[in-house]
This record gives sequence, C-alpha cells and structure tokens, in this order.
Amino acid sequence: MTIMTTRRPKAALADPARRILEHHAAALLQHTAEQTFPLAAAVMRRDAAHYTCPDRFVLEKQRVFSRVPLVLAASCEVPGPGDYKTLDVAGIPILLVRDRRGAVHALLNSCTHRGAALASGCGAAARFTCPYHGWTFAQDGALIGIASAADFGAVEKAALAMKRFPVAERAGLVWAILDPASPHDPADLLGGIDDLIAGFGLESWTHVATRTLHGPNWKLAFDAHLEFYHVPVLHRETFGPDRSNRAFYFAQGPHQRVIAPQARPGPASPDDLYALGHVPGADDPMDPLLMGEWILFPGVSINTFYPNGQRAVLLSVVMPGAEVGASTTTQTFLAEAAPDDATRAMMDDLGAFLAHVVGDEDLPTSAFQQKALGTGMMGDVYFGRNEGGLQHFHGWLDRLIAAAEADLPALLGASCLPR
Ligand code: FES
Ligand SMILES: [Fe+2]
Repeated sequence: MTIMTTRRPKAALADPARRILEHHAAALLQHTAEQTFPLAAAVMRRDAAHYTCPDRFVLEKQRVFSRVPLVLAASCEVPGPGDYKTLDVAGIPILLVRDRRGAVHALLNSCTHRGAALASGCGAAARFTCPYHGWTFAQDGALIGIASAADFGAVEKAALAMKRFPVAERAGLVWAILDPASPHDPADLLGGIDDLIAGFGLESWTHVATRTLHGPNWKLAFDAHLEFYHVPVLHRETFGPDRSNRAFYFAQGPHQRVIAPQARPGPASPDDLYALGHVPGADDPMDPLLMGEWILFPGVSINTFYPNGQRAVLLSVVMPGAEVGASTTTQTFLAEAAPDDATRAMMDDLGAFLAHVVGDEDLPTSAFQQKALGTGMMGDVYFGRNEGGLQHFHGWLDRLIAAAEADLPALLGASCLPR
C-alpha cells in the first residue's frame, strides 16, 4: 500500500504531548499485531430520563455548559480585525468578535439598555449599533455611545459594557466559559488537550463552509459520535456494510480519541498509521500521530479528510438548544490551505455527503429515540463493553455535575498532560 505524502512544515508539538501521541500509536500498532481489542469492564446502564428530564437538563447547563471551556469557533472563522460570528448555546446568545489588536472577545449578544440583539449571522464590523434605540458598543463590548445621551440621563457607561465571557484562543480554536462571573481562565481548564491537537496547526487554516443541523437532546445527538458500533448498520448505504463496528478509545481527561481498527477503504491517506506500520519518527509527517476522531468534551468532534490530497477537517459541534429535547449540530469544514477550484468542489461534495450521513441517518434515529425515551416506559439504556467512549463521556458528565467549583482546576486542568 502506498501513502500519498503531502509534505508540510512540521507543527511544533510540546514534548509531553508528542510522547502521549506516540504512546497511542504504539498501542494501536501492538493491538493490531496481536489482534487484541480492549473492552470496558462491564455493560453500563443509564437512566433513560437523563435524555428527557428538564431538571437534569438544567443541571447540565449550570454545572457543565456554564463551567467548562466550550469550543465556540475555529480561529479562522474570525480571522481578521472586526470579524464576528453569532451563535446560541442552550439559549444563551453569543457574539464572538476579534478586535483590531487581534484579541477575540466572547460577549453576551445583548444590548445593556434593554436586551436587544447587537448582531446576527456573521460578518465584519468596526462597532455594533443596537437596532432598537441605537446604543453603540466597541469590539471588546465597551459601551461607546448612548443615543440622545442628554435626553436619556446620567448612567455610568463603564458599568454598561456587554457581558464578557472568559475566553482563550489555543490550538487554532476559540474556547470560552459561558459564565461572566467564572473565576477561571479557560486555558487553565483545558488540561493539555490543546497541546495534543496542536499538531494540526489549525491557527493557520482556512474556513471553507458551515452547515447547521437540528436534532433532539444534545446527548442523543452526540452519542452517535462516540461509538462506531452503529457505523456498518445505520450507515450501510453511505459508508458501506463492510466497515468495522469496533473502535479503540484513548481517554485524555474528559476528552477522547476514537480510532477505527482499520483504515478507510481506498488508497491510504497520509494519516494512515496502519499503512505506515511504525510510530512516526522525527522525519515522518505528523499526520499518523493525529489519526482518528478527536472528541473535545463536551460536544465537539474533529475528523480528518484528504479531498484531492489536501488535508481538511470537519469540526462538528453539538450544542444544547433552549429545551431538553433540542440541539444543534454545526458542521464546519476547515482546510489546511486555501483550496483551488477543483479541491473546493470536492470539499463541497464531501461536506454535502457528511451532512447527509448525519442529517438523514444519525439525527432522525436520535429524534425517534427522544420520542421513545420520552414515553417514560423505557427505564434504562445500555452502553456495551464495546462502547467505552460512551461510558467515559457519561461518567464525566456525572463527575462534573457533582464537582465543586473549587475542584474544577484539579479535575480538568491536570487531566491530560503534566504541566
Ligand atoms: S435595547 Fe439597545 S438601545 Fe435600547
Ligand atoms: Fe453515525
């Protein structure tokens, strides 16, 4: 089998991160050689109400989505000064904007006069003027103008800045904690997952396209990213019936890698560790060290593709909607280099295919599950010994819901790499 090689500058990778990736690669090769396959210790039962109970949903919003760093964008979605994007997470409207000095701000997308939205969609803006009464805000959220200020009366402008969420830009991704009062810097809670994915070099990539799909409870939507058990069955018409239904799981704190025990069909891609056959050394490309699906807790997956031989990733972000039974899955296609016309056409086709797989196969299945679990007659659902990724994910949800605020840095901050 030949490997298509795309030579690229090797991204800097901190030593401890490289050692962990080498350890994963060695374990994969050893399991393949010995034909062994690790399984979780036991089948896990889970109360089906976790997917449908409004009280549980409130706990997840308050204890998880408002306390852990969330990936809100790839850096290249807001590449230049004034570039902004809006999004909604669990009913919280967010405005993400890069200022003229290059810093990204994550702001509550709500005017401090009486709450109107300050921006919609995405674009570029030097400042944000409220469409209701005309107050104006700077790129960092500061209030800079009150319409008819003399008529309005005296207020302290400095205290009326937009609400700011703690934000950090690492490994080409923008992470924020959706609590303006959080005492934590998101960078302190990443636990080194940013170092582990630094080899992608996402900070210099290009945004190609974004699609948003709507689904049921965010965990039902995300569960399908955490196991390959369903792949040759549910996706027999799209991925084909011959794909393995097994996956290797490597846990890094709450985050994970999910890796198939065989490469995709067709010519070996540059990240195909199995075709390479050895742990990549200093002179080998990084790609095989980063093989597989990366799961960034709580709801992000990163999958690598090589349309027309160019490295690209699909950044899938599953976020809760405003209600327990609603979520969005945002599929963002990023390319390592700005694509030429032929490559872009292949990326468009691949993007449409992946939207079809998730939008027409995974999410309708999840929507039916939501309805069935909502009857209250199901009792439990089950995660098999071969579904260790799901067991790990749901275990971490419980751990975070139970954790005290003061324990978060120890729980999350040291979870992947020694600092
Ligand atoms: S709500 Fe924005 S100016 Fe009144
Ligand atoms: Fe799927």
